This record gives sequence, structure tokens and C-alpha cells, in this order.
Amino acid sequence: MSESDPSGAPAADTAIAPAAGSTDAGEFAIRVRDLCNAFGTHVVHENLDLDVRRGEILGVVGGSGTGKSVLMRAIIGLQIPESGSIEVLGQSITEARVDADISIRSRWGVLFQGGALFSTLSVGENVEVPLREFYPDIGDDLLSEIARYKVLLTGLSDEAGAKFPSELSGGMRKRAGLARALALDPELLFLDEPTAGLDPIGAAAFDQLILGLQHTLGLTVFLITHDLDTLHEICDRVAVIADKRVIAVGTIPELLALDHPWIQEYFSGPRGRAAMAAHVADHGMADTAVSAERA
Ligand SMILES: Nc1ncnc2c1ncn2[C@@H]1O[C@H](COP(=O)(O)OP(=O)(O)OP(=O)(O)O)[C@@H](O)[C@H]1O
Ligand SMILES: [Mg+2]
Repeated sequence: MSESDPSGAPAADTAIAPAAGSTDAGEFAIRVRDLCNAFGTHVVHENLDLDVRRGEILGVVGGSGTGKSVLMRAIIGLQIPESGSIEVLGQSITEARVDADISIRSRWGVLFQGGALFSTLSVGENVEVPLREFYPDIGDDLLSEIARYKVLLTGLSDEAGAKFPSELSGGMRKRAGLARALALDPELLFLDEPTAGLDPIGAAAFDQLILGLQHTLGLTVFLITHDLDTLHEICDRVAVIADKRVIAVGTIPELLALDHPWIQEYFSGPRGRAAMAAHVADHGMADTAVSAERA
């Protein structure tokens, strides 16, 4: 994909705007309003708004360095914003310190961009970490049984649970990170570039794993990705970050109907067209009518 800076962004009212304030708050797992994030004089987000609906897989795209990971970190309370409000599962993140409010943190799981497994712990022990933190009274046998179940849930074998991260392939490490993210039976899953570095077959398998888990467990998924196949295959909607804010949210056909240079280049460039053609070949034209015409 192109990593060029977007230019000529449409005014906010020409984008598919986040839902209006009057909408039922229970409909949304995440609500972000007027968010501003900065590192010193470097402003990353300015008046950013975003709604994530309960039960959806929302893809988050944008050029490298546009602030996708910073947005995720702000939503889970790891980045203190300059201003704005963030509500997750009905609770304000910006008004309470998340590390003090343990209950909300147990309702989401996170797979960080780099995986972030503890290298000195086995896969199973990595999965046990959040369980030990939130349920210190659970006995060792039950802990390892829950961890084993989570490892198997992500398609890893029992043997993989005893291995250290350095003994795993990149794809297996992603699954191990996912197993840890699922440790506490979260309602909300944050995934930062989950298929980066995987071969196409491994990436497709990981996509199907996420889709299957989302259906089975009723998860809401906030999924940052550069992977066009992932966007087409599993995302209900896609949010585009450019110019320090979310410039549009919608299905891919809805986004393609917008006259924005970065969006057009991203989805209608050679790689975007290839991903779309593959999706149409697999699933037919029904949900890609607008985009397919432009391919
Ligand atoms: N801890 C930090 N201190 C200073 N600047 C930071 C910090 N974290 C992120 N940034 C800056 O914020 C901007 C957004 O970073 P972020 O990691 O969110 O980008 P991204 O959209 O996730 O990019 P990529 O697609 O490459 O992962 C970048 O310019 C980055 O240098
Ligand atoms: Mg990032």
C-alpha cells in the first residue's frame, strides 16, 4: 500500500460520519469524541470521533504513522489524551485511571502490534498471566486447564502450550498472543496488525480464526490492519484515519463512493483491486457492487 501522506481530505460532512450523539449508547462498544493526542508539539490526533458498534469487526486503516496504534492505546487507557472523551462498554476511560479500574480491563483482550509475549514464559504461562492478575485465588491446576483451553481455541496444539515464544513460528506467536488476549473471556478484542508478517495462507487462516471466534464468542473487534484481504474478508466496516482524525467509516463500497485520494488509492490501487477481485471470486458481487464497478 502507499504510505504517502493523504492530501485533499474532504470536509468532515462529506465523510461517512460517526453516529450522532442521539443514538442509543448501548449500541456502541466504543465511543470516542473530540480526541486529541500529542507527543510534545507533535499532534497525532485532533478532534477525532469514532463509534464502534457492539458485535462488529471494525477495520482501522491509515498510512503508517497516522496514529492507529496510538488510538488503540488511548482507548485501552495506555495513552493519556490531551483532551476528548472515550467510553468503552459504557464506562468512561478518560475520567478514570484504567490501571485503577480493574473491572473494565478484564472485559477486553489485546494483541499488540509486536505480539508482546513474555519471552521467559511458555505459551501456556503467558496465557495464565492475565488470569493470575484478575483471579489470584484460582488454583494452579484450574489455571493451567483454562490456559490449555485458550491455546487450543486458537488452533495451537497442546505441545505448543509448553513451548517458549522463541520456539514458535511467527504465525504460532500470533495465535499465542491471541490466546492470551482471550484469557479473560473478553467482550472486546483489540488486534493491532494481527496478520503482518504472515504468509498469505497463514494470514487467511488467521482471518478465519478471528471471524470464527467473533461469531462463536459474540466479540466486538477493533482491528488495525494494512491487509486488504483481511478488510474484505472479515470486516463489517472500515474506519479510515488521515489528517489526524477519522475521515470516514463505512463498508468498503461506501468508502469507495467517497472522492478521497488516499481512500481511492488504497482500495482501487493494484493491491486493492486484487484483494477485491479475490473477494468477488469467493463471495460473488452482492456486497461489493459499488467497488466492483470501479475495479
Ligand atoms: N511513545 C511515543 N512517543 C513519541 N511519539 C510517539 C510515541 N508513540 C507514537 N508516537 C508517534 O505517533 C505517531 C503515530 O504513531 P502510531 O504508532 O500510532 O502509528 P501507526 O498508524 O500505528 O503506524 P504503523 O502503521 O506504522 O503501525 C507517529 O508519528 C509516532 O512516531
Ligand atoms: Mg501501529
